[in-house]
Amino acid sequence: MYRKFAALSVTVLVTSFLVPQYTINILGSIIKNSLYPSKRFTKPSQNVLTKEQLKLYNGIDKPELYLSILGEVFDVTKGAKHYGPNQQYNIFVGCDASRSFVTGKFSIEDISDEVADLSKEDLRSLNHWVRFYKKQYTHVGVLLGRYYDENGEITPYGKEVKKLIKSAEKDKEEEKKLQQKYPGCNVEWDPDKGSRFWCSTGSGGIDRDWVGTPMQFYEVNSKSYRCACIKETELDSLGNVKKYDNCDAKSKSCFVKNID
Ligand code: HEM
Repeated sequence: MYRKFAALSVTVLVTSFLVPQYTINILGSIIKNSLYPSKRFTKPSQNVLTKEQLKLYNGIDKPELYLSILGEVFDVTKGAKHYGPNQQYNIFVGCDASRSFVTGKFSIEDISDEVADLSKEDLRSLNHWVRFYKKQYTHVGVLLGRYYDENGEITPYGKEVKKLIKSAEKDKEEEKKLQQKYPGCNVEWDPDKGSRFWCSTGSGGIDRDWVGTPMQFYEVNSKSYRCACIKETELDSLGNVKKYDNCDAKSKSCFVKNID
């Protein structure tokens, strides 16, 4: 036994000197590929449907109802009363009509999975729908096309949309924090006097122990403003607030004849 092992070791040692390096490299890569197959040879990690395959899941050609949103395919068969043939939201079935989730346009010619140009508000709304489907229905795969490739890997477009959605959600978080720190004003309108803005300890839906001064508050990177209640101690230090015309900087109530 020991002799056999010694002979084998010598053979391997001698062979490694005699066999050219490139042969060893080729053998190495064959062994490596069979142990750790490269991406090209792997099966997609998730079920990838083509547009033609997805189209069949319409409750007629196949009994199930599938829809795709941002390239994520869900089985919505249990919602047949909404998605089934001739039902109100049947337009979403068998295709990716992501854009219609926010435009509300449900005609065949409006079907599109392009969303990168949508507003941040719309992107958040779209994300809300994706979360809804993940929660309510079963995710059955991805759609080959704009968002996923044949290996089920996300495309550059898909990555870009994910990034846009993340940024839109982040903005919303920032906005919420700003709403807490700089709460909205109370508003009332009178045809003769115009609009009156004023602050109170509960204005903007934020309960607090201070009242604040109504000011024009400009959001980051925005030309539009909202009325916000600013603490007296911060009035002079904030760069993005402006007093209302005809309204004293320390005034608790401002009238604006015409709101622009
Ligand atoms: C952008 C516009 C809209 C979109 C994309 C949309 C989409 C949808 C979808 C996908 C469903 C099915 C949800 C599920 O799977 O359970 C649904 C349900 C429903 N939608 Fe809409 N909808 C829109 C506007 C409206 C409007 C304007 C109304 C009312 C005037 C409305 C009333 C309803 C009702 C009553 C249900 C059924 C709720 C239930 O039974 O659970 N939708 N909508």
